[in-house]
Amino acid sequence: MTPSVRVDEISVTPIAGALGAEIGGVDLGADINDIDVATIRQALLDHCVIFFRDQDFDTAAHKRLALKFGDIFVHPFFFSDDPGVVTIVREPGDTRIVGEDWHSDTAMMAEPPLGAILLALDVPEFGGDTMFANQYLAYDALSDGMKRMLAPLKAVQSDRLVAGPGAAERSASRATKARTGPDWTETISYHPVIRTHPETKRKCLYVNHSYSVGIEGMTEAESQPLLDYLMDWGHRPEFTCRFRWRPGSVAFWDNRCSKHIAVDDVSDARRVMRRVQIAGDRPY
Ligand code: SIN
Repeated sequence: MTPSVRVDEISVTPIAGALGAEIGGVDLGADINDIDVATIRQALLDHCVIFFRDQDFDTAAHKRLALKFGDIFVHPFFFSDDPGVVTIVREPGDTRIVGEDWHSDTAMMAEPPLGAILLALDVPEFGGDTMFANQYLAYDALSDGMKRMLAPLKAVQSDRLVAGPGAAERSASRATKARTGPDWTETISYHPVIRTHPETKRKCLYVNHSYSVGIEGMTEAESQPLLDYLMDWGHRPEFTCRFRWRPGSVAFWDNRCSKHIAVDDVSDARRVMRRVQIAGDRPY
């Protein structure tokens, strides 16, 4: 784990042993220069998820910020007035929330996003944290025998659990809706169970509860126990960190090597987040 360091004006301070660092000394709403972008990108690669406090920027600045790191990813099944921007709202009384299972985002896409930048607009005084899990560590800690067995396998990644008719009840029970009607068609991709990060070249586990529905070439009875084991293994406590939000807090996660979950513990409070995702490439 990289110790707390100061590079120019930007500080990088780990918040847990497994992953996550708080970045200080940068105003994300300003037009950040190339050196700061490079420092932030390196911190993201080193820590899998980075956090910023006391930020204040509008939707246009949010998109400008994301564009510093890649093209903007347009979400295929969340409704949005502004393509590329998803507002995630939890209203008091909602019984389901967006991101309620451990997942990496939109893994059913042929090219899932590189990452996401999530800004807290309105958050409860306590509760509604987000947890993250380091999938490099999850891979590294597997036995050599398990690594060998998983090496050639591909997971079937589908959005049928989180959108479409199978997710209608879930979507109806929360303010932020997914496509569940005839304007949705299932998207399926086959991605390696162990992927190689395109920038760090490290291997990481790449299966998750929201999208991984099988192993290519295996029956459901064969693949489900293996998937269940790996999906639960991936968020053992020693692989995780937990982020407590305040208005103006930002989380920027690397979606290629981490999973996350929105903790569902604030049923009577409002929580509003704005998210812009950055396009990624095909897992290998
Ligand atoms: C998400 O899964 O992208 C949402 C996370 C959150 O709202 O904490």
